[in-house]
Formats: sequence, C-alpha cells, structure tokens
Amino acid sequence: MPNIQTGNYRPVDLPRTVDGFTFISRAVAISGKNEELILTRYGQREFLIQVLRRERDGREDYLIKVDKLTRLSPVSIMQDALKAFAKLHRLELTFSNIEPQKRAIVKADDFSILKSIDYFATELPYDKPLLVEVGFGSGRHLLWQAKANPEKRIIGIEIHRPSIEQVIKQCKLQHLNNVMIADFDARIFLQLLASNSTEKIFVHFPVPWDKKPHRRVISQAFVEEAMRVLRPGGKLELRTDSENYFAYAFETFNALNRYDLQIKKNHDLPVSSKYEERWRRMEKNIYDLTLTCETHSPERKKIEPLLFDKTIPFTEAKERFANITLKNEDAFVHFESLYQIDAHSGLIRLSMGAFEKPEHKYLLFNQNKIQYFPKQTLAINQNIKAHHMIKEFFHV
Ligand SMILES: C[S@@+](CC[C@H](N)C(=O)[O-])C[C@H]1O[C@@H](n2cnc3c(N)ncnc32)[C@H](O)[C@@H]1O
Repeated sequence: MPNIQTGNYRPVDLPRTVDGFTFISRAVAISGKNEELILTRYGQREFLIQVLRRERDGREDYLIKVDKLTRLSPVSIMQDALKAFAKLHRLELTFSNIEPQKRAIVKADDFSILKSIDYFATELPYDKPLLVEVGFGSGRHLLWQAKANPEKRIIGIEIHRPSIEQVIKQCKLQHLNNVMIADFDARIFLQLLASNSTEKIFVHFPVPWDKKPHRRVISQAFVEEAMRVLRPGGKLELRTDSENYFAYAFETFNALNRYDLQIKKNHDLPVSSKYEERWRRMEKNIYDLTLTCETHSPERKKIEPLLFDKTIPFTEAKERFANITLKNEDAFVHFESLYQIDAHSGLIRLSMGAFEKPEHKYLLFNQNKIQYFPKQTLAINQNIKAHHMIKEFFHV
C-alpha cells in the first residue's frame, strides 16, 4: 500500500481541494489511539486518509496512508491522493514509496471491468451465459476462457490486488470485452448472483488452508450456493493438487442430498496455470472434482442495501459506544473505535457479519442520518442479522 512518513504534520482547516482531491473533514480518534481520518473525495469516490502519530527516537513521526477499508483501484489514485495531501500540508517527507516506477500499471479508465459489489447485486445483466472463476491468480485460465467463449460473460473473483491489476491490463491488451472482475471474497460473492444463471464455476488450485480450514473457499454453504446459482446441467469444477483438500472437498460434496460427481486424476486442460506447472514439475498428482447441478432452484430474494431509517444524535452514539462484541449463532458485530468529526458527526469503526468472513466498515453519523461507509452493506444473510444488532444497540 502506498504510504508516506513525515515529522512535520500539522492539521489545516478543511475542506480544501488540491489537484482534484477534496479533503472534506477530519475525524479524530477518541478511544486512546493517536489517529486521524481525513474524509476525502475524488470524483464520485469517497475514502479515508489515515494519519497515525508515533514516537520515533523521542521525535514526532507520522505515517500517512489510505485507510485499507476504503482503499481504491487503481493504486495510482491513492498515490496521487497522498501527494496532494503532502502538498496541502507542506509535508517534508522522511519516507515515501510513491516513486514513479511504482505507479500503477493500469490507467483509471481501464478499470471499468472492475465492477462494484452493488453492480453485481443489482445491475448485472443476465443476457449471456455466465462463467465464474474463483481466485483466478495470474489469470491464465480466465483469459483463455474469455478468448475461447466470446459470446459468454466471464466473471473473475479475486482478493489479491496485484493479480487483479495484471488481469485487467491483459484484458485491455488482448481486447477482451467479455470479462468482469469482482474484488471480493468468493465465499460471499455467489449470494449476489441470480439462481440458475451460470454455466460453470471454476475453482482452480484454491489455497488449501490446512491449518485454518474455516478459511477455505469450498464449504457446505459455498457448494449449496453454487448449486443454486448454476443452471441445471451447470458445473462446479474444482482442481487441486492437495490430497487433503481433495478428500475434504469430496466429503463436502458428499453431504449434498443428491449429486452427480465426476472425479479425474492427472487430466490435462487446454491451459495450465503457474501453480499447475509448478506441481507438475514436482510430479504431484492433480485432481478434478466436477459437480453437476441437477435441479432448477427457486429465485433468490432481491438483495437490497441495508439502510437505517431512524437516527440518533452523534453525542448519544458516542455515549453508547463501547468496545464490545455482540453476537448470536451465526453473526456478530464488534465496535472497534470511535472518531469525532465535530459536535454533531463522527465515525465508528466496526466489523460485522459472518464469523469466518467478517466485513470491516465504518458507521458514519452525520447530522441527521446514519450510513455505512465507504459503501452500503449488502443484505446478505449474516449482514442482515448483524445490521439488526446494530439497530437494537443504538435504538435506531
Ligand atoms: C493458489 S492461488 C491459485 C490461482 C489460480 N487459480 C491458479 O490456478 O493459478 C489461489 C488464489 O485464490 C485467491 N483467493 C484466496 N481466497 C479467496 C477468496 N476467499 N475469494 C477470492 N479469491 C481468493 C488468492 O488470492 C489466490 O490468487
């Protein structure tokens, strides 16, 4: 992540605009941390710049970066935001990793294929057959599928930013206009897609997570969701080199009430990924488990953003705030820290949702409304439960 360091940060009056970035307001942590968050706008996008004050050899030292909950793509926007911030505050930098050669490889315009989660939940057209790839990594298989199937729409889901940027660049270079990318956790993503909409879901060489099995992409919930999203005859294709993961996936698939499962060992695909090449050099076995969907599924409930229709003054929220965790069987909310913008507005940083895949967010209390920041929280199952806990806690 781009960051700068300085010893001479002094806040200036806001709002101020520099080089297209508007630094709107400053929120100061009131729970003991030496931290400020600067609410910043660039075009339509809003994000937070985080200023962390530390002591270094008895001297003041500030680490300044974009708060990772609100990070943006391409990286160049965050780099330019930090430059504008440094210019506004006349910072003398003691460190910067924003050298020209580290700038993003992709231009902002190319990022139109990186779609927001709201887009997938509410705007994705279902006029073409869908192929979905989970954790595409270097993207060789995804790009191959895109080229081989120009009449289909290919959705790639990945959480590793450098891989996302590389694949966006490749799509641009290869003039592929049938790819859409989601920077999101695949364990939640499938909930956003319509039932019976997808031809294939590829999960190639997922991280085996032998020591943290709860982080695995394949789980019973994932497989059930995959079967809902796939059209009858559609396929979930898992490819792995891990004997452990193979056995685990087999057991998970087996828990389905009805299934059609095909297993292949050391079967060649028309394209092989970097991982695959490495495992082949090591003469490891490679397993394919293909689960075919046999049933038509009912349509899923419409996914709406979670909103607050009532509000309370920020002063009241501040009094109620406590660093606590609320939980029920399958969802939780943890209020982490509190930041004050002025007497009537502030932010609460929290994590919420499912235990194994929490979402990290801010709640913005602003004059007469409460909203999630930086974007809406989608009404997927565990978030709905967590949202109710927040409403009960603040009586809103
Ligand atoms: C071992 S790599 C395999 C990459 C690629 N499929 C291949 O065959 O080369 C696993 C990939 O899955 C991604 N990944 C891991 N957990 C994920 C999740 N929950 N959602 C989306 N992507 C994930 C990782 O970032 C990584 O790029």
